[in-house]
Amino acid sequence: MNAMQDMTGGRELVMVSNRLPVDRVTNDDGSTSWRASPGGLVTAVQPIVEQLGCVWVGWAGSADEAVEPFELGAMRLVPIELSAEDIALYYEGFSNGTLWPLYHDVIAQPEYHREWWDRYRRVNQRFAEQVAATASEQAIVWVHDYQLQLVPAMLRELRPDLTIAFFLHIPFPPGRLFAQLPWRRQVVRGLLGADVIGFQQTTDAVAFRMAVERFTRAPALGNTIVLPASADGPSRTVLAQEFPISIDAESFAEIARRPETRERAKEIRADLGDPRIVMLGVDRLDYTKGIRHRLKAFNELLEDGELDPTDIVFVQVASPSRERVDAYRQLRDEVEGTVGRINGAHGTIGRAPLNYLHRGFTRDEMVALYLAADVLLVTPLRDGMNLVAKEYVACRDDERGVLVLSEFAGAADELRDALLVNPHDIEGLKAAIVRAAHMPREEQRRRMHALRRAVADNDVAHWAAGYLGAVRAAAESGEIGVGG
Ligand code: ADP
Ligand code: F6P
Repeated sequence: MNAMQDMTGGRELVMVSNRLPVDRVTNDDGSTSWRASPGGLVTAVQPIVEQLGCVWVGWAGSADEAVEPFELGAMRLVPIELSAEDIALYYEGFSNGTLWPLYHDVIAQPEYHREWWDRYRRVNQRFAEQVAATASEQAIVWVHDYQLQLVPAMLRELRPDLTIAFFLHIPFPPGRLFAQLPWRRQVVRGLLGADVIGFQQTTDAVAFRMAVERFTRAPALGNTIVLPASADGPSRTVLAQEFPISIDAESFAEIARRPETRERAKEIRADLGDPRIVMLGVDRLDYTKGIRHRLKAFNELLEDGELDPTDIVFVQVASPSRERVDAYRQLRDEVEGTVGRINGAHGTIGRAPLNYLHRGFTRDEMVALYLAADVLLVTPLRDGMNLVAKEYVACRDDERGVLVLSEFAGAADELRDALLVNPHDIEGLKAAIVRAAHMPREEQRRRMHALRRAVADNDVAHWAAGYLGAVRAAAESGEIGVGG
């Protein structure tokens, strides 16, 4: 057993997430292939499971397609089929039209539809049944994210021998907001089926424990919730605590050190016209990411003459996301309209101040972009963590570059040496962008040095050790009957 496998005490590990780590895509010629699924969940979790090995249960990303289980590296992937109606009601509806906006401080208006909830419950039940049929005796099952909050309790009922862990990758909302959810009690009870519930930030864990006290009356002693004996089983405890997620910093640093990556970074700058300053934004095209606010600030700085469009290029990478959900369609129209207006007003022949890229890139190309950027703008209105900020820092072993970071991203708890901003304050955001564009090398070095230490000290191995250590302790306490 290596150090990683030791984390599960030799038990089988079953990952469960809405999406598998790879999505099935149909190519132009009709053939199909697999590509990495979008988002931070896979970036963070993949390096752990590559070492540990696991079974991974999730959706393959297309509608009405039954895919047989298959092996991928150290993983055995078990696809769950979702119909077009499941996708519309469970995924686009309840997950991304109700929970996503509610859990992100109602930046968009959550919609509450009983039909969506009903399908969410049914799809969660299907996930639980598939896991129950797949997991070996005494396995550790690790359920991920807001799409599957009912799975822990459903699974416990089917398979009481399992140790169940849950991790919420997005924020848990404050009490007044969570209370809006018509099915708040069911969600809390669903999560409490787990032995360990992990959150990104202390505030999330506190908000959850308060919701438990309010909606179930089960008391919390510190981080531990004590569930009384009931018809469903004996008294037991649930650990609900923050475990801030991270990245495999060394694997990003390794790509960044390669001569070909450095060469590619230079090429990118040359292709952009070798401007004095390259600014970068990298986000899923999501209304939580603050892209509208960022573009507004950038446009005003060009209009005020505080940034010179012949001197600066802003590259905004916006990965396609949830394109059939109304709020995302609207956002795309708005962002693309704004990009056109900015370039129309401030571009010159052969040179546009804004380079907008609406597509996915390879990891190597992302790293080259990070190296090419003098300034990274990470300005979400709300974000569970934001791994892009950590990736930029991990790549900059030259100790150059400036990170402008929203105080509403979970990452701001650790990355205190970034230029922290309130993205709602457009004047403050503009001032931070100007400061970043003119920051002296020595200040860049000092800040980046401290940021790199923060990311290196809390990388994904550290996160996994803390989280899986708690899960393993729960598994072992169960075996000897403590808390059970
Ligand atoms: P979220 O999980 O909300 O999407 P994160 O910042 O935590 O946000 O994680 C996003 C992940 O997706 C990062 O690992 C980032 O490198 C990756 N990513 C974002 N945009 C792209 C893109 N266009 N191409 C490839 N990877 C991307
Ligand atoms: O935590 C954010 C999240 O929903 C993850 O589950 C996933 O990594 C990412 O966003 C991508 O979202 P989607 O699966 O809806 O494309």
